[in-house]
Amino acid sequence: VARPYVIDEMISAKSIAARIEELCKEIQSEFSETNKLVVVGLLRGSFVFIADLVRELDLPIEVDFLEASSYGDGMESSREVRILKDLRGAIEGRDVLVVEDIVDTGHTLNHVTGLLKSRLPARLKSIALLDKPSQREVDFKADWTGFEIPDEFVVGYGIDFAQRNRNLPFIGKVRFTEPE
Ligand code: PRP
Ligand code: MN
Ligand code: MG
Repeated sequence: VARPYVIDEMISAKSIAARIEELCKEIQSEFSETNKLVVVGLLRGSFVFIADLVRELDLPIEVDFLEASSYGDGMESSREVRILKDLRGAIEGRDVLVVEDIVDTGHTLNHVTGLLKSRLPARLKSIALLDKPSQREVDFKADWTGFEIPDEFVVGYGIDFAQRNRNLPFIGKVRFTEPE
């Protein structure tokens, strides 16, 4: 039996959209000279963020995806990052932007950016909508962060709790309504 919970709004859809506009201006100036930027979404959590991000980016882009999983259905990181699906295209000599929903322990994005760097892209940058620095286990910081958040279990805007709630248009925090 699942423990009952409610979701309290933490970051509104409107604030997310406003922050994405700001971030895209910075990304555009960083990659202003690019002839092609490969935007890589990490499945599944980044699918909403990457969709909004690329529609706001005024740059010549291509989209690719990579699936890494560490959490499965639990609330805690397994610390073992598995690549479940690799990129479709080669990135050697390309400009690459890796898009992630959240950096928590840091294992996922640290592992993935390490892997992609070994393929010798011209430039590799990363962006995470959320950063939860209190949980960090490896020294990693995305080049751009949307919001720094406190140590709460968050859902929505692509982020799941046991695969649910990815479709919420805002970021919410899980609040359990009964003791364990
Ligand atoms: C979640 C989240 C990030 C990662 C962050 O993915 O989407 O990818 O964990 O945690 P970390 O910094 O501690 O590694 P998850 O493994 O749950 O897969 P999902 O994106 O398919 O939900
Ligand atoms: Mn993920
Ligand atoms: Mg998950």
